[in-house]
Amino acid sequence: MNRFFDLVAEAARQSLLVKMTLSKPVQKHDELRNIYVKPVLIKEKRLFAFTYHYERRDEVKNYDDVQMMEILKELLPARFLNAVLFTVSEDVTLLVSSKGKATLQTKRVQEAREQNLDHDKQKNRLVNPANPWWYQLGLTTREGKVTADMQHKFKQIYKYAEIVESLLKPMKFDGTVHVADMGAGKGYLTFALHEVLTQRLHLDVDIKGVEIRPDLVLKINDIIKASNLKGMEFVESSIEAYHPEKLEVLIALHACNTATDDAIASGVKAGAELIVCAPCCHKQIRQEMERSGKVDAITRHGIFLERQAVMVTDAIRALILEYYGYKTQVMEFIEMEHTPKNVLLVGRKTTKAPNRMEIMRQIADLKARYGIRQHYLETRLPFRME
Ligand SMILES: C[S@@+](CC[C@H](N)C(=O)[O-])C[C@H]1O[C@@H](n2cnc3c(N)ncnc32)[C@H](O)[C@@H]1O
Repeated sequence: MNRFFDLVAEAARQSLLVKMTLSKPVQKHDELRNIYVKPVLIKEKRLFAFTYHYERRDEVKNYDDVQMMEILKELLPARFLNAVLFTVSEDVTLLVSSKGKATLQTKRVQEAREQNLDHDKQKNRLVNPANPWWYQLGLTTREGKVTADMQHKFKQIYKYAEIVESLLKPMKFDGTVHVADMGAGKGYLTFALHEVLTQRLHLDVDIKGVEIRPDLVLKINDIIKASNLKGMEFVESSIEAYHPEKLEVLIALHACNTATDDAIASGVKAGAELIVCAPCCHKQIRQEMERSGKVDAITRHGIFLERQAVMVTDAIRALILEYYGYKTQVMEFIEMEHTPKNVLLVGRKTTKAPNRMEIMRQIADLKARYGIRQHYLETRLPFRME
C-alpha cells in the first residue's frame, strides 16, 4: 500500500501522472461508485481534479499534491479496494483483497503517453450539461447528455447564458457579486447564471433565487445541496417583500405583470449595477388602455392593442430606469415561437446625470396618448423633480 502511495506521490511530483482511478467500493452499496483523478492546470497552478461518481450525480473537486495524498490515504483501502495509476510510461494496479492484503502489478506501456492538463473537455461550454444539477433538474441523462425532449429548453438556456455573459463580461466587480433572480421558478436560468459567473467569469457569487412557491424553493435547495454548489440559494419570498441590502445584478425573467415592476424597483433601490428583465403578461397597462376607451388605427385591433400595451409598458419602464440613471437597451431573448415574451429589457447604471425633465416629458406624452393614468412602476419608484 505504501509503495503505491510513494509511486503516486513521485508521479505527481515529476508531472508524470496521466490519470488515476479508484474503484471497487468496500461497501457494495456505497453511493460513491468510483473516483477518477486527472491533473489539471488552473490559473497556472497544477492541481488534481477528483471526479467523484455517485449513484445519481458527479462532483468535481480540485486538490494540490499534498491534499491529494492525504485524501488518497483516507480512501485506500477504507473506501476502495482497487486503484490504477496511469503514468506516462506505466500502469500500476493496486488490488486489495477482502482480507486487506494489498498487491501491486506494474505494466510498462508500449508508447509513452502524454499528460492532458485541460481542466475539463467541456470547460469552454457556456453551460455544461455534464454538471450534476442538470441531471437533477431533469434536463439530461445521468451521463450528462441533454434528453431529446429537453433539447429545445436547453437551447433557450444556452442562449440566455450567451446574453448574460456578454452583459456581465465587461463589468468590474469588487469582491463577491450579489445577484437576485426574482421569480426564479424551476431555477434553470439561475443555475445557468451561476455557471456563467463562476465557471466562465471566475467570480465569487451570492445568488439568491427569489420564488414564492415553497415546493420549488425546497426542491431547488435540495438540488443545490446535493450538487455541493456554493454561492447559490433559493429564498421563499414574494418579489414585493424581498429587499436585498447588497445587490449588483438583478434578474427578473418572466415575472408576471407588475411583479416585473416590483423587481425593477428592488433593483434600483438596492443600487444594482445591472438590471435584466424579460417582462411578461402586461395586464396592468392593457387594462388602463382599454379603460380609457382611447383607440387609434393601431389599437382598434385587439391583437395590436395587446402588442402595443407590451411596448408601452416596457417603454415606460425603460424611461423610468433612465430617470434613475440607467442606460437602457431592449433586445431579443429567444427566438419568437409561441410566445411574445421574448424581449429583454436591460438597464446598466451609469454615472451620467439623466435629463429628468425630458424623460418626464416623454413619459407624460406616452401616458396621455394611450389614456394611462398611472404606470404601476411609478408607484414603486416615484418621480422627484430636482
Ligand atoms: C413564468 S415563471 C419564470 C421562471 C424563470 N424566471 C424563467 O424565466 O424560466 C415565474 C415564476 O415566478 C414566480 N412568481 C410569480 N409571482 C411572484 C411573486 N410576486 N413573487 C415571487 N415569485 C413569483 C412563480 O411562482 C413562477 O415560478
